[in-house]
Amino acid sequence: MKALTGALAALVLCLGGCGDGKKADGKMVVGFSQIGSESGWRAAETKMTRQIADAKGVDLRISDAQQRQENQIKAIRGFIAQGVDAIFLAPVVSTGWDSVLGEARAAHIPVVLLDRSIETRDDGLYLSAVTSDTVYEGKVAGDWLVQHMAGKPCRVVEIQGTVGSSPATNRKKGFGQAIAAAPGITIVRSQSGDFTRAKAKEVMESFIKAEGAGNICAVYAHNDDMMIGAIQAMKEAGMKPGSQVLTISIDGVPDIFKAMMDGDANVTVELTPNMAGPAFDLLAAWRKDHKAPPKWVQTPSKLYTPETAAAEYAKRKDMY
Ligand code: AHR
Repeated sequence: MKALTGALAALVLCLGGCGDGKKADGKMVVGFSQIGSESGWRAAETKMTRQIADAKGVDLRISDAQQRQENQIKAIRGFIAQGVDAIFLAPVVSTGWDSVLGEARAAHIPVVLLDRSIETRDDGLYLSAVTSDTVYEGKVAGDWLVQHMAGKPCRVVEIQGTVGSSPATNRKKGFGQAIAAAPGITIVRSQSGDFTRAKAKEVMESFIKAEGAGNICAVYAHNDDMMIGAIQAMKEAGMKPGSQVLTISIDGVPDIFKAMMDGDANVTVELTPNMAGPAFDLLAAWRKDHKAPPKWVQTPSKLYTPETAAAEYAKRKDMY
């Protein structure tokens, strides 16, 4: 009797969708292995992915990895077991994906990378990647500083993103390329703030202690949230970010525009949180004709300054 009740319960649950991963209503099922919620940008990307999925009638199953690759690998295996139609993966770090993505390929489940790239010798492991050019983002940030300093020296402290992640590696590289043209601009300290406000605030406090408040000309942070943490640390130390100390960061979240409006920040390079829109589109096209989509769909990277901060803040405040 107990077994029968269990079987009946399973049958009822399966009407809602199980086994082959497809719901009784025929919706496309997409599993999304998301990194976590380390930044305002990340939370916006999750929110937007859900909104777009709802609008398109996609059954989106999100798994939050809490910044851990092993949780992402488990989630992908779970999605394969559910027989989802496709997997979106925002890879926390760039290496170590070949084996699990090989499993997805063996199960004929296409994988689309969102916002971060991976290092692999077999790019057939994923259908496409929707990301910005993260080296270019760093270059845009560095070029602004080079132009702004106009030949004057500048001691920069850098707060990096998550160690081993593609944006941390590449944003460092691009910024380095840009400042190579200006011998007076040097990175005097560089440490990871793991893309979070709290960690970056601690890192900035240690930089101030080590360098002395008066010896820091600019802060380059690999995302806006870390810059907000650094701004807090500078203000608590009696420094004046945005005027005495230049700030350069990446993402374009509402809080950085607010900081610009308050005179506490100088520039940001925008990263759109809408990675899912192009990903769903290319997936839909691929499901129709199985023609390979572009391997890389590049999203724009535009520099923003305080002149347009109020307008940008108003545009974004409800998106995030
Ligand atoms: O991969 C994109 C980066 O990840 C964003 O710049 C950052 O805010 C997030 O945590």
